[in-house]
Amino acid sequence: MYVKSLNLKSFRNYDNVSVSFEPGINFIVGNNGTGKTNLVEAIYFLSLSRSFKKCSDEDLIKRDKTSAELTIEYFSEKDKEEHLIGATITKKGKAFYFDREKVPQLSKVLGNLSSTSYDPSSVFMFKDDPQERRRFLDETLGVLSKDYLYTLSRYKKILKERNTALSQSEYDRDVLAVLTKELIKCDYIIAKQRFGLVERLNTLVDEIFREIEPNKKLVLKYVSTLPNITDSKTFMEQVEILFEKKKSEEAIKKCTLIGIHRDDLKAKIDNQDLDSYCSQGQNRLATFALKMAVAKLIEEIKGEKPIIILDDVLSDLDITRCKNILMYLEKGGQTFITVAEIGKVELTKNYKLYEIDNNEIVRRR
Ligand SMILES: Nc1ncnc2c1ncn2[C@@H]1O[C@H](COP(=O)(O)OP(=O)(O)O)[C@@H](O)[C@H]1O
Ligand SMILES: [Mg+2]
Repeated sequence: MYVKSLNLKSFRNYDNVSVSFEPGINFIVGNNGTGKTNLVEAIYFLSLSRSFKKCSDEDLIKRDKTSAELTIEYFSEKDKEEHLIGATITKKGKAFYFDREKVPQLSKVLGNLSSTSYDPSSVFMFKDDPQERRRFLDETLGVLSKDYLYTLSRYKKILKERNTALSQSEYDRDVLAVLTKELIKCDYIIAKQRFGLVERLNTLVDEIFREIEPNKKLVLKYVSTLPNITDSKTFMEQVEILFEKKKSEEAIKKCTLIGIHRDDLKAKIDNQDLDSYCSQGQNRLATFALKMAVAKLIEEIKGEKPIIILDDVLSDLDITRCKNILMYLEKGGQTFITVAEIGKVELTKNYKLYEIDNNEIVRRR
């Protein structure tokens, strides 16, 4: 699929701008603080109903204005149809429209305009809190399967109840046993999908990473407090034994010590841990490869290439790596890529160029 046009009213630094796009690589250039990130943030917002930044929706409204309006027109090659997604953000909340009809639930916005994105905060994805990596796995699985999010929210609810039960000095053992059983049932469903996802991503990441870093190998691993996935009965039994062993420690710590909420995604380049040994550039490349693997996965499942949003991905990468990334992207779906240094644009031949100046977006090529 590809974005045909975007209109922004009172969004971030933009008053009222309309811009048309084409398939292929679309570079967004401009000096620092001109609104490059804001532009791709708008596309992301219309795809996933929230910003990639840690901010409130209210921050997206232009200062001194009361509401923002965003509209995107995209073409789906699979359905051979054009669609419109609209959003209105006010200080009270946000509403989405699909082909001008109000979307009843935010979760229904997901999956129409599929996208995968890279933003500068993801450079440290493998150095960040494990929570960030679990979020990545959950969001990816959430886009691929709606049931996953349902089980995840159920898991969180039971986990909270179980932790509350543990925190009581005289907790009811029967209640705890019931909660433990329910928790393990969810553990099985979630861990099975997470293990499966990481296995699939591993194959894809390996192929992608080889194209941008030919002599190195990137390997992902899902590190779990749970046993390997077998059939559900064996898994349940094994986890119950684990809980039994942790009983006294849980009673002291007053929280659940086993389960998908404590799992992690690790990565190694040539057997070296990304989080402790690898450079910022290597972390950037690994995260890029991971995000592109997600794009391939979306393509496999949805039957068409998602759009790719890359904010500042080329910063602090040498010319060879930038070239390899751009060569890789030339084969992919429509890409939006922001750059501050115009020189890097010429590392590829087939591209469109948009320059942002004075809150206006001008097509230069
Ligand atoms: N809600 C807002 N209203 C008006 N301007 C905003 C708002 N949010 C951010 N900005 C402005 O946007 C600019 C940053 O834009 P950004 O897209 O991050 O720039 P860059 O081109 O460096 O990526 C800053 O000048 C900031 O003041
Ligand atoms: Mg920026």
